[in-house]
Amino acid sequence: MSGCFKEDLTWRDVTPKAAWLNRRQLIAGGAGALAMGSIVGPAAASLNAVKTDYGAGLDPNPLEDITSYNNFYEFGTGKGDPVQNAHMLTTEPWSIEIDGLVDNPGTYSMEDVLEGVTLEERIYRFRCVETWSMVVPWVGFELADLLGKAGVQDGARYVAFETAYRPEEMPGVRSRVIEWPYREGLRLDEAMHPLTILATGLYGEPMPKQNGAPIRLVVPWKYGYKSIKSIVRISLVREQPPTAWNMYSAREYGFFSNVNPNRDHPRWSQKFERRIGGGLFSKKFETLMFNGYEEEVAGLYEGMDLIKNH
Ligand code: MTE
Repeated sequence: MSGCFKEDLTWRDVTPKAAWLNRRQLIAGGAGALAMGSIVGPAAASLNAVKTDYGAGLDPNPLEDITSYNNFYEFGTGKGDPVQNAHMLTTEPWSIEIDGLVDNPGTYSMEDVLEGVTLEERIYRFRCVETWSMVVPWVGFELADLLGKAGVQDGARYVAFETAYRPEEMPGVRSRVIEWPYREGLRLDEAMHPLTILATGLYGEPMPKQNGAPIRLVVPWKYGYKSIKSIVRISLVREQPPTAWNMYSAREYGFFSNVNPNRDHPRWSQKFERRIGGGLFSKKFETLMFNGYEEEVAGLYEGMDLIKNH
């Protein structure tokens, strides 16, 4: 069992079998395109993303790392399962239901979601609660833009998100590892923060299915499980919403889940992380408070006990 059930990293994790297979298939002449189908299909027109200074100086992981070592339990709990199985997900057409305390509730097609939006490339650190990390060049836009379209009403204090639940396309949901659909949530001020984005691509191309096509959340100062994939519902609500990993074990996975080297997971330390890639010698780094985004986000949590409110 892997995923948010951390196991010790072995050489197999840092050189995952799927990545190795893809490499072999690519060498063998194009069969790798099958595994990577979601990024080379007809919809793979390059995205017109504006370059930004986010992540200047960071060295992004290669595309292959980012698209072959994944957590997407709807497609299986192994790190190599999503790349094998996520092609089953139908992503066109796609829409997001926006409901709750908003002026303009309804079904937003991807066209509605993207209307008037400037796509940006932002290179962010990405830190999984399991202690591995990557650097990802996302393409996306601020969640605040979409919430603006929906018109957030007074009284809304949290934003709840849901992933698609499609047993016929998602072999992983047969096993009840967590309670489906996958759910996440943010406090409204976290959701409105300019670092919080909805990502529709990476490396300048539409989002690979294993990474959460066609649209997923990215909250770079929180553990990766907050960054919910393949979103079909966004609800503006008054009370803190239930979230998948917190329902599984509140003691292990808090609602806030801010990256914090001073609050160990009950079963492992969070002081260090390993950057995926680089084989046996994958680099070990000290975990940074708020994953390195302290200057931008510490103000959101002024006066809060971040150990209690983990
Ligand atoms: N979203 C859904 N719907 N299902 C999942 O299993 N896994 C989470 C998060 N979002 C997950 C999800 C976890 S634990 C992590 S670390 C990240 O996705 C992994 O994102 P990546 O595969 O793009 O690196």
